[in-house]
Amino acid sequence: MDKELVTQIIDRYEADPGMLIPMMQDLQAEHGYLPPEQLRIMAAEMNVPLTRVYGIAMFYSSFRMAPKGAHEVTLCMGTVCHLKGAPRISEAICEEYGIVPGGTTADRLFTLQAVNCVGACALAPVMIVDGKYYDGITPDSALDILSALPREEEKVSGVQAAESSSAGAGDVEGA
Ligand code: FES
Repeated sequence: MDKELVTQIIDRYEADPGMLIPMMQDLQAEHGYLPPEQLRIMAAEMNVPLTRVYGIAMFYSSFRMAPKGAHEVTLCMGTVCHLKGAPRISEAICEEYGIVPGGTTADRLFTLQAVNCVGACALAPVMIVDGKYYDGITPDSALDILSALPREEEKVSGVQAAESSSAGAGDVEGA
């Protein structure tokens, strides 16, 4: 099954080694992340070093090596948010949930993304949860927001998380 999917994707690009990135994008679109076993198959089938495939996966921030959580949490680390305390918020979240920016909680409740300026500097510091903006957040209010996230088991899948990542800017809510 793994190999069948990878083969289909490779065939889509006529096994052109120059199309490795689109192939990996297609693979990620299927799963919401890049399963290591399927990367191994892709490298073998394309006859390219696995290190090259992993190098691409690590270089482009759009690639994910692990499934996303059920909720998407984005913390702005842009200059204004940084000056208004975003690093302390990030530290509080990472410490509380044992993750690093870009990581997913062990129970896959959420994935934490750190980004540069989401274009709402007047509201800094800003955190976005599933497309909903929270302004003026503090370490405590951020933890309160995250602790209230619903734990819907059916949402905990890479595919659904990938769908939710396409959500645009939503409402703004004070923290
Ligand atoms: S720096 Fe955070 S919204 Fe602009």
